[in-house]
Amino acid sequence: MNELLQLITDCKPAQDYKELKELFDFLVPHNPKIILEIGLYQCGLLKLWGKVLNPDLVIGIDDTMIATEAAKDLDGGIIVIAPVKSQDKATYEQVKEILDSKKIDLLFIDGDHHYQEVEQDFEIYSSLLADKALVIFHDIAVADYDFCQVQSFWNDFKGNYSHKEIKYSVGTGIVFWES
Ligand SMILES: C[S@@+](CC[C@H](N)C(=O)[O-])C[C@H]1O[C@@H](n2cnc3c(N)ncnc32)[C@H](O)[C@@H]1O
Repeated sequence: MNELLQLITDCKPAQDYKELKELFDFLVPHNPKIILEIGLYQCGLLKLWGKVLNPDLVIGIDDTMIATEAAKDLDGGIIVIAPVKSQDKATYEQVKEILDSKKIDLLFIDGDHHYQEVEQDFEIYSSLLADKALVIFHDIAVADYDFCQVQSFWNDFKGNYSHKEIKYSVGTGIVFWES
């Protein structure tokens, strides 16, 4: 078994292996040091950031006790804010305080999958991005609008930015952010 597959097997992110492999192959040379993930579930992907990318700081936000419990056995340098809504002002303020004027290099949005909430997550947390950063949206290829509205958001949004898509199953959309 290769090393990434072994880590994925151990960490159990809620992600498709082929998409994750291509995503990490893409991310490793970008070397993001400060990462914010919105939507953690069992913290599987949150653990992977730390193990594969060797970042300085990883912050995660989730609205469940599942994430709160899973956060109890995380490596150092990973901070979970839960259970909270990412769209709440208090959550944003907490992230800002933890960052302590550092800027986010990689923002991964995978929380509430309704159109307006995905848009809000981007609008709120893009104010904390580094001058050059990556913003990643998960589930950009899920066609069931009642279940997930990320595809609809992504199709309206992606034309505003230089971007890249990884699509083997649910889809991962990457935006090259420059302020
Ligand atoms: C698809 S799961 C995340 C999976 C995770 N990114 C991974 O790859 O392992 C989505 C998570 O986002 C949480 N969530 C939904 N709405 C949220 C919100 N407004 N704020 C924070 N978390 C939210 C859900 O409860 C769930 O735990």
